[in-house]
Amino acid sequence: MGNYYVTTPIYYVNDVPHIGTAYPTIAADVVSRFHRMMGDAVRFSTGTDENATKVARVAASRGADPMAFVDEMAAAFVETWRRMHVAYDDFIRTTEPRHHEATQALFLRLYENGDVYYAEYEGWYCVPCETHFLETQLAEGKCPDCGRAVEWMKEPGYFFRLSQYAQPLLDYIAAHPNWLQPEFRKNEAVQFIKGGLRDVNITRRSDWGIPVPSHLPNSEGLVIYVWFDAPINYITVAGYPADAEAFARWWPGTHIVGKDIFTRFHATLWPAMLMAAGLPLPAAVVAHGFWTIGGEKISKSKHGGKGFRINPLDLSQEIVEASGADIDVAVDSLRYFLLREMPFGMDGDFSLEALYRRYNSDLANDLGNLVNRTVTMLGRYCGGAIPARADVLPEALHAAKQVERCLGGAVVSYLEALKAIWELLGYLNRYIEEQAPWKLHKAGRAEEVNAVMYTLAEGIRFALVLLYPFMPVVAERAAAQIGWAHPAWKVSALAWGDLRPGSRTQPAGPIFPRIIDKETIVTEETPQPAAPAAPAPGAAPEQPLISIDDFAKVQLKAGTVLAAEKHPKADKLLILQVDVGEDAPRQIVAGIAAVYPPETLVGRQIVIVANLQPARLRGEVSQGMLLAADMGETGMAVLSPDTVVPNGSMVR
Ligand code: MSP
Repeated sequence: MGNYYVTTPIYYVNDVPHIGTAYPTIAADVVSRFHRMMGDAVRFSTGTDENATKVARVAASRGADPMAFVDEMAAAFVETWRRMHVAYDDFIRTTEPRHHEATQALFLRLYENGDVYYAEYEGWYCVPCETHFLETQLAEGKCPDCGRAVEWMKEPGYFFRLSQYAQPLLDYIAAHPNWLQPEFRKNEAVQFIKGGLRDVNITRRSDWGIPVPSHLPNSEGLVIYVWFDAPINYITVAGYPADAEAFARWWPGTHIVGKDIFTRFHATLWPAMLMAAGLPLPAAVVAHGFWTIGGEKISKSKHGGKGFRINPLDLSQEIVEASGADIDVAVDSLRYFLLREMPFGMDGDFSLEALYRRYNSDLANDLGNLVNRTVTMLGRYCGGAIPARADVLPEALHAAKQVERCLGGAVVSYLEALKAIWELLGYLNRYIEEQAPWKLHKAGRAEEVNAVMYTLAEGIRFALVLLYPFMPVVAERAAAQIGWAHPAWKVSALAWGDLRPGSRTQPAGPIFPRIIDKETIVTEETPQPAAPAAPAPGAAPEQPLISIDDFAKVQLKAGTVLAAEKHPKADKLLILQVDVGEDAPRQIVAGIAAVYPPETLVGRQIVIVANLQPARLRGEVSQGMLLAADMGETGMAVLSPDTVVPNGSMVR
């Protein structure tokens, strides 16, 4: 057990929260939750960067008072993160007195030891990026970061002796292999520093920002450069300068930042400032890549309008509308998607299709269905209670070890952690098929049924504990369903067998209702073809023959019924979830409720027409049709292959 401090960048308040800023925030939330689960004392901070010169400009252009403007924008971040299940410990705003105090203290410290001095500055400056550039750093005369026009700035001010720190930084990087992550970004930083560092002007003439300490010469009308003040937030939160005890406890912390602010600021300027102040450097600086949309950088002007929702809450609402899941499940699903879809250091393209695909296959299918089937079978075979304990499942322990390595170690890998959890879920899904508890039950082998069901429930519990930092609300809900009523989200005490025999399950239906591709649903109630005219009494019914080509148009497939339930609005209908070897199971609505109690179908293989146009039957989508022999008055018999076949096998 130790102390763990993690930070996100502090966000400019001239933009609204979007998936680009939600990304590092959720990433920091996940590691901090995991460290709490390991028993560490944790501090997770995020916040807003409010002193930028452009804040004053934007506020002025809206005719707003800058302070009222930043208050309103900061509140939007606070509210968004709350609703995105982000559990930070501190939200820092750089307009707060504690941060003014820390910034001025650090500025003075560097001034007193000679690393900050007063001089005349002349050079190129990008106002939107708030960054100086050398002539040689410009890209065709424009800002190398954002491509916009730069301005020639000439003003006297205070400078930071950054040039003195190139070699110490290179030495530090060489001596601390995991300090800058990932490796390829570290190499970029090394190249940048080797390219030479110039002293930087760390003041601006403005009336918005943190004033240069007033007793310093020429301080009148000067504020501290926003990129000098912003990183200091990390030590303000840790207690600098007043609370030495807190500072010793929490500092150094780990920074999660985007690649755009990694090299120049978090791998160079900020550590050099700390070196100059004689303070410890950050524990690690981890850079992530960028989300793009259609290959382009996300921007409010392009993607903030009606066509595309980039706000994480709006996107979660899209999931709600497409699936019927509730908003908290949708939020957790988006959190999952962002960390699963692209490796943390790399760039990736965001699309609703990809989001929906992962929702259906990973969440509705692999996770949701597993929980649902297990709870249903616990109800049916074990009276709705957890049976006697079964032997430890090595796959569950293995997953726990993997996730601990990926989230609790020096180098964090969200993707690998999620893959390890999904390996366990995949194992459990296969285990159901292999063990076929419905067969054991039919054969009266109750002890074996109990062992299988305990293994499933406890295996799911392990997966939920490991998943908790990513999907806290979903983990809570699923835990209640499998009979873990008072979950303790601890990995430090995750022991096989903690799920108590006798605990009652709480069946509550699917957590992740499936998203049906809207494009393929033609009408609410697909019209049935007109019935052929009844044959005259006594005459043989005339059935025209069809060619083999006609028959070939009908695609028949074998599949396994994963779940079955009564249609809430129609007595004769059952709703089946059928695995036909595709990414996600299909929902089939069938008129067999009078003959088949739903539970008798679960686990059974059937044959469906797989290329029928989807239709809605009493509000429920049916993506195919089940084949059954119709015996008229005497009932129906569902067709099954006479031996177990791979799901998705064509029937000809
Ligand atoms: N205020 C500075 C950070 C100061 S930290 C001491 C800033 N703010 S920002 O709001 O522009 O960006 C904050 C973070 O969001 C950056 O790490 C940036 O990389 C990240 N992202 C912004 N858009 C992004 C994407 N489209 N994709 C991923 N992350 C992106 O920079």
